[in-house]
Amino acid sequence: MDTDHVNKDHAQALIRAEAGVAALAARRSDRWYPQFHIASDGGWINDPNGLCYYHGRWHVFYQLHPYGTQWGPMHWGHVSSEDMVTWRREPVALAPSLEQDRDGIFSGSAVIGDDGRLRLFYTGNITIQQRDENHAEELYEAQMLAEAQDDDARVFTKRGVVVAFPEGAVHSDFRDPKVWKQNGTWYMIVGARSARERGQIWLYTSQDLVSWEFSRVLYEHPDPDVYMLECPDFFALRSDSGGMKWVLCFSAMGSKPCGFMNRNANNAGYMIGTWEPDGCFQPETGFRLWDWGHNFYAPQSFEGPDSRRIMYGWMSPEASGPVPVQQDGWCGNLTLPRELALDKDGSIRTTPVKETEALRASQCEFGRVSLGAEEQLVVAEESAGTEIEMVIDLNRSTAERCGLKVHAGGQGSYTYIAYDDQTQRIVVDRQAAAEGGRGYRAAPLSSESLSRGRVALRVFIDRGCVEAYINNGEQVMSSFSYPVEGPGKSILLAERGTMEIESLTVHRLRGIGLS
Ligand code: FRU
Repeated sequence: MDTDHVNKDHAQALIRAEAGVAALAARRSDRWYPQFHIASDGGWINDPNGLCYYHGRWHVFYQLHPYGTQWGPMHWGHVSSEDMVTWRREPVALAPSLEQDRDGIFSGSAVIGDDGRLRLFYTGNITIQQRDENHAEELYEAQMLAEAQDDDARVFTKRGVVVAFPEGAVHSDFRDPKVWKQNGTWYMIVGARSARERGQIWLYTSQDLVSWEFSRVLYEHPDPDVYMLECPDFFALRSDSGGMKWVLCFSAMGSKPCGFMNRNANNAGYMIGTWEPDGCFQPETGFRLWDWGHNFYAPQSFEGPDSRRIMYGWMSPEASGPVPVQQDGWCGNLTLPRELALDKDGSIRTTPVKETEALRASQCEFGRVSLGAEEQLVVAEESAGTEIEMVIDLNRSTAERCGLKVHAGGQGSYTYIAYDDQTQRIVVDRQAAAEGGRGYRAAPLSSESLSRGRVALRVFIDRGCVEAYINNGEQVMSSFSYPVEGPGKSILLAERGTMEIESLTVHRLRGIGLS
């Protein structure tokens, strides 16, 4: 490669991308723009990419289309933070500039090489045929490398293709490299749609991060409807009692809804099992969703310097129906950073990282609260920018459904986060949402939680979305919720019976510095 030429073309593409974001940001409306979730200044974002801790800062990259509020030719946007609380914007990191990435810098991951330098692995995308009404699409996708030139990770040099498109062996989709090191060997997994159109995850190994050797198909999804596994991720988790399990994560395309499961267009989840480096992944559980809300996809995790396993997801707009923020100059945000932990009962708990507590600026303690049948109680005049912690005592409550209306505003609109005693699930119901997609989602509670008779909720409410963490990370639900303009209250409600709340605190949250 003529390196000077490559760097010059890339630098120019990045300047154009910055101007694209700035033009959209200049006409941005902030009615639903997040206060404490990562989003681009302007333009469309999707998957979190390249998550890492490098030279004293946390780095989050993300899929970015800088020229519109729809998905389009992908770049990598970038923000960084010293403390995972307050963030600063960084220049756009990667833009299409080579023949092999001309139609998009697709998703990928970051590692710090043996020389201490940050490497980004991404998929270079060439679109040979656009998606048609039968979803037929022809892509040519290769795994590519870029190296950071500075300790702030602001300047990257592209090193080109490191894993070529395996023509004939895959049916067009072959992307989203996730790289890690283990016992002196580098590993890469890539999501693939096999020649027989089955969702697979391929495993490669390397000694130097540049030359990669195919090892095996690590996993093939058993469901023939699942034709592609996007954004694979693979890591070991150790429980407090010392047990160790491997967790295989992917975003499955093609799975059909089944009961409460797989209700989104594509669905991101994981299986827990075992793995030896010279073998395939052996699942010991079925597929579990990372998040039961309407808007969650393409998560990525990484290991922090303190060995925490931290995950970000993308709050993805519905595939069909209105996406109101697209009129506002921006679209898409990430979830809060979440810590993953293996519980002694073998399940994974997903909680907001402890740093999130530093967003709390002030609080209002309500203590114990009793609500009569059909009674309502306003607990915040403005939902946006709050975290509500509450514990419902199910043994002493008789309501059929009880919980919290948020973003409750004019024209009777609201989003309802409630315990539903008939299904014994937590529901996020957007039947009365002011704008955007409707429908409800319902997350299960374990029989142990139900027999304890308590539901603990931590609900984070931003201007246009909610995240509800249930029973200390037993389940999570992330959904968009677009209120009408003007204050949107948070209101407790008990339907057809009473609700006893053991404790209730409303925290007002500060912003993360990206508004
Ligand atoms: C998942 C995904 C990835 C791909 C990227 C493109 O949302 O489709 O598989 O790399 O988005 O933006």
